[in-house]
Amino acid sequence: MSHASSDQKSYFFIFIAAVAALSGILFGYDTGVISGAILFINDEFKLSPQMNGVVVSAVLLGALIGAAISGRMTDRYGRKRLLIADAIIFIVGTLISAFAVSIATLILGRIIVGLAIGVASYIAPLYISEIAPARHRGALVSLNQLAITIGILLSYIVDYFFAEHGLWRWMFGAGVVPALLLLIGMFYLPYSPRWLVSQGHYEKAFAILRRIRGNDDQAETEITAIKATLQHKRGDWKMLFSKTIRPTLMVGVVLAIIQQVTGINTIIYYAPTIFKMAGFESAASAILATMGVGVVFVLFTIFALPLIDTLGRRILLLVGLAGMALSLAALSWAFHQDVHNLPALKWVALGSMVFYIACFAFSLGPIMWLLISEIYPLQVRGLGSSVATCANWGSNMIVALTFLTLVNALGASGTFLIYFLVSLVSIVFVYLFVPETRGVSLEQIEANLYAQLPMRKLGQKPIHANGVKL
Ligand code: BGC
Repeated sequence: MSHASSDQKSYFFIFIAAVAALSGILFGYDTGVISGAILFINDEFKLSPQMNGVVVSAVLLGALIGAAISGRMTDRYGRKRLLIADAIIFIVGTLISAFAVSIATLILGRIIVGLAIGVASYIAPLYISEIAPARHRGALVSLNQLAITIGILLSYIVDYFFAEHGLWRWMFGAGVVPALLLLIGMFYLPYSPRWLVSQGHYEKAFAILRRIRGNDDQAETEITAIKATLQHKRGDWKMLFSKTIRPTLMVGVVLAIIQQVTGINTIIYYAPTIFKMAGFESAASAILATMGVGVVFVLFTIFALPLIDTLGRRILLLVGLAGMALSLAALSWAFHQDVHNLPALKWVALGSMVFYIACFAFSLGPIMWLLISEIYPLQVRGLGSSVATCANWGSNMIVALTFLTLVNALGASGTFLIYFLVSLVSIVFVYLFVPETRGVSLEQIEANLYAQLPMRKLGQKPIHANGVKL
C-alpha cells in the first residue's frame, strides 16, 4: 500500500465520521433546545402545566414512533438512503416548529423533529459500525455520542444567546444549519458495504470496502466473511424472535432501558430545576451551573473515545455504573439534609451531578448505542437495533414524565434513591450478560451467536488450533 493511499483512507474516515456526527449534533441540539425555549413559549401561549409537559415530551413521542417504524426500512432500503430522508424530515420539522402559528402546529413540528431524531439515533451508529475497521469501531461509533453532547451544549449556548429577546423561534430555527449540512454531506458518503452485500451487490460492496480500507486483500477477506453470514434466511420479525437471536434482543433492550432508568435525562432536562432545589437561588446561576455540566459531559466523552477500544466495553460500563450509583447515593443523602442547615448542600449536589455525568459519559452514554449496533446479525441488524432504540425512547419518556411527580411524592432524596437502586441492579445485569466486543469483527460476533455461545461470550475471538486466541 502506498503512502498516498493510506493518507487518502484516513481523510475519508474523518469525512465519514464528521458527517455522521452531524446527525448526533441534531439529536443533542433538538432534544436540548426545548429547555430554554419552553420559558418563552409559555409566555406567548399561556400554557397549562399539562400542556407544558406535552410540548416538552412531543419530541420523545416522535422519536419513539420514528425508531418503531423505521427498523425494517433500514434493512430494506439501506442506512444511507434512510439518513438522507431523515435529514429532510429534520428540516421540515424544524421549519414547522420555528414558524408555528399555534400551539398545535408547534407540537406537530416537534413530533416531526422527534421522528427524525428517533431514526438518526440508531441508524447513524449502525452505519458507522458497518463501515469501521473492527479495531477502531468503538471510538468511531462513539463519535456520534460525542456529537450528541456537543449538540446539547450548543443548544444551551444558542438558548442563552437568544434568551435576552425571547426569540424562541430562532432557537428552534438554528437547528436547520446542521440538518442542511447532513443532507448535503450524506450524498458524498458510500453505502454501507455490509448492507450492499445483504442485498447481493457484491461488486459495489467490494469497491467501497477497498476504498475505505485501502487494501484489496483486507476488502476481499471481509466480503467473504460477510457473504458467509448470508447463509441464514431473510431477516424478519420471526427471525428476530427466534430462539437463537432472542437473547441478543433481550440484552439490547435491557441495556437501552438501563441507559434511561438510571436517570440521565432527569439531569439533562431538569438540571436547572435540581440546582434550584439544592440552593442555587437565581435562574442565571442555575443555568450557568447547567452549562458547566454540559462542558464536563463533552470533555469526558472525548476522554472515553480511545478507552472503548483499548480497555473495552464491559469494564467501562461496570466502572461507570458504579460511579453513577455512588453519585446517586450522594444526591439522595444531600437532599435528605435540610438546605438551611447545610449551606454546602448545593456544592455537594453540583459535585455529585458532575461526577455522575462524567461517569455516564465514559460508559452507558456511548457504549449502549455502540453495543446495539454490534450484537445483532446482519439480516436483522436494523430491526433489532430499532427495537432496542424504541425501548430507549419509551423509557426516556416515562422517566421524563414521572420525575417531577416522583419528586412531589417522595422528595428528591427518595427519587434519587430509586435511581440508585436501579443502578445497582444494572451492574449485576451488565456483569452477567453484556459481551465484550472490543476488536472483534461483526461477522465473528454473528458466528458466535449462531454457535449458541452464552451472551457474555459473544465477543469471543476464534480459538486457534494450538489454543491461542487469534
Ligand atoms: C441518551 C440520551 C441522552 C444523551 C445525553 C444519549 O446517549 O440516549 O437519552 O439525553 O445521551 O448526551
